[in-house]
Amino acid sequence: MTNFKPVRKAVFPVAGLGTRFLPATKAMPKEMLPISDRPLIQHVFEEAREAGIEEFIFITGRHKQMLEEHFDYQPELEQTLESRGKDAMLEKVRDSEMPAGKLFLTRQPKPLGLGHAVWCAKKLIGDDPFAILLPDVLMKGETGCLKQMIDVYNETGGNIIALEDVPESEVHKYGIADVGEESNGAIEIKGLVEKPSIEEAPSTLSAVGRYILQPEVFEPLEAFERGAGNEIQLTDAMAKLIGQQPFNGMVFDGKSYDCGSRLGFIEANLVYGLADPEIGDDVAKILKKYN
Ligand code: UTP
Repeated sequence: MTNFKPVRKAVFPVAGLGTRFLPATKAMPKEMLPISDRPLIQHVFEEAREAGIEEFIFITGRHKQMLEEHFDYQPELEQTLESRGKDAMLEKVRDSEMPAGKLFLTRQPKPLGLGHAVWCAKKLIGDDPFAILLPDVLMKGETGCLKQMIDVYNETGGNIIALEDVPESEVHKYGIADVGEESNGAIEIKGLVEKPSIEEAPSTLSAVGRYILQPEVFEPLEAFERGAGNEIQLTDAMAKLIGQQPFNGMVFDGKSYDCGSRLGFIEANLVYGLADPEIGDDVAKILKKYN
């Protein structure tokens, strides 16, 4: 293993409006939508924790306080569960607490785009490499996606984005990578194209919401250039680093679920429900009923 600066910080952008999920997200943050027994934000927190992340940075905004409160110590709740002997539930509640000194909050006053949200963490990141996890995308695999990426990072350093192969008919929905040689799980990235047509797509490998980036990405972000949808795009800033720094993709060994869309959310609930030891068999029975 080569000695690269370790990835200890992770950014969770949660300041978006969640318009695809209205009216559910009128007052409740999209990132609080539950998949099985826990909200999206807790799933990604657990993925980052498994990967050895020590500083959890939330880019939050208006009407999003519930997200930080979710990770609070809840003394009355714990006492009640304890007095009723609900030990398994108590264990689950305790596991959802953020240890002291690990949560950092900063705000994005206006949802100007993912790139702008990430830029809001500039001071908190300083000169360190960092991870970004989009909480509305769940990555289901034997090993968590960020852990898989950090294993690759420890060999290559530089920047790494998670990739997933998508059907040709769907490339127009995603950021697609132009890729070169592969070596030890790291695929050289030569370019990124946002939502190309089938004809224009350089591959079928899409970027799926997990990134390890070097702090130099804040330079292009600071130009605050508007891109697709008139938003400040992370993809545009990353594209400017390609060729200047090592930039690799890692094909995730698992499957992603876009829980910010209604269909992805329903599919994820079925898949996570089926995999749940407590309710999996009953979920399978329900599914059979509607076949
Ligand atoms: P999305 O584009 O999926 O979220 O961004 P959105 O904009 O809230 O959702 P729709 O498209 O309107 O339904 C991915 C993540 O980035 C955050 C979102 O909260 C989400 O978790 N985000 C997005 C920000 O923090 N700030 C932004 O300006 C945009």
